[in-house]
Amino acid sequence: MASGVNSRIEGLYRHNPEERRRRIADETGLTATATDALAGCVLGQERADKMIENVVGLYELPFGIATNFTINGRDYLIPMVVEEPSIVAGASYAARMARATGGFIATHAEPVMIGQIQLIEVPDSRAAEAAILGQTIELIERANAQSMSMVARGGGARSVEVHRFDSSPMGPMMVVHLLVDCRDAMGANAVNSMCEAIAPLLEAASGGRAMLRILSNLADKRTATARVRIAADALTRDGIDGHEVIERILWAHAFAVVDPYRATTHNKGIMNGIDPVIVATGNDWRAVEAGAHAWASRSGRYTSMSHWYRDAHGFLCGELTIPLAVGIVGGATRVHPAARAALDILGVRSAGELAEVCVCAGLASNLAAMRALATEGIQRGHMSLHARQIALAAGAEATEVATIAQQMIDTASIKPAAAEQFLAALRNCLTEA
Ligand code: MEV
Repeated sequence: MASGVNSRIEGLYRHNPEERRRRIADETGLTATATDALAGCVLGQERADKMIENVVGLYELPFGIATNFTINGRDYLIPMVVEEPSIVAGASYAARMARATGGFIATHAEPVMIGQIQLIEVPDSRAAEAAILGQTIELIERANAQSMSMVARGGGARSVEVHRFDSSPMGPMMVVHLLVDCRDAMGANAVNSMCEAIAPLLEAASGGRAMLRILSNLADKRTATARVRIAADALTRDGIDGHEVIERILWAHAFAVVDPYRATTHNKGIMNGIDPVIVATGNDWRAVEAGAHAWASRSGRYTSMSHWYRDAHGFLCGELTIPLAVGIVGGATRVHPAARAALDILGVRSAGELAEVCVCAGLASNLAAMRALATEGIQRGHMSLHARQIALAAGAEATEVATIAQQMIDTASIKPAAAEQFLAALRNCLTEA
């Protein structure tokens, strides 16, 4: 599904949610069931009750679609589930700027995850290392016996590494890494089972005791990379010349490179584009977040995950590489009807392709945030949606929200108290009329 999509849907924001669903379904060939799933209320209490413990109900979030994305020459409509205003609009806006110069180029590494087995009380760590590496084939066979379906899909355990820690707060330890090609699965369950299965073999080979046996969320072998090139013209806005905007964006990036306080917020802006796709497709956003921020610290100092520069032709160029442990089979990706619909809208054929979409959405969000911060500031764009949220929180009905929000913007008073006053006045007016 979803091949041959045109992601440049003009004025999608002008429609109501039902019309937008129809438009997206027409564009992507989504089935009626999948289209209905976008409207919400589809997970159901019974299914939810089997997903986690002590379920008391369901929690809803807005489901939006980012437009304008071209990645590796193909158009994508990108599903985003998120509560924060301006994220969908910002990503779509940046994707539109990128579209003029061919869109994003993305690549992904092999979907290899790392499982860790901690060994303590090892009498001779050098001899243990040699013994463990000498049993690599047996270890891989034992691991693969745990997940024949992964092996059948062309994946499975690939190799073993040994790391020695001569000191820790508790004394020396060894850590064995099992490298597993997870193909289209995120792979946490399979990797954890494999680690547990090979732990007794590792104890026998090392003479030590296995403690933790668990996947690492620093999936630094499973990265995805996005690149983009933006013309200065596309950045011209509100009377600020595009070349000047590029200069300001490069200063914004430099700030995030040198200062961890700024890098944290800058990287949050990147995750603003990635997390909503992870959530929409039923993937594990905590795993992706943990991996991304550890990756951002890999030099020993927390810094910007993205890299921006001006090329010899005066174009603004951006690059982002991050670990992206995502799957399109297993877990909630297939259990949750809205996650299934999100994957259908994307039409991705592999987990690697989904990772490419995520990293492009992250780079787009980063660009949108930096452009806004370096020019008019982010508040202007936020104001109208923010005002609508305040109006809703003050108790305005759907038909009242636009009026109350506009009154707050006009009086530059976007506050709960103002919303309540305007709401009371509006209702008073209607009663008297
Ligand atoms: C807000 O959610 C994200 C930003 O703070 C990101 C940034 O500062 O780059 C606007």
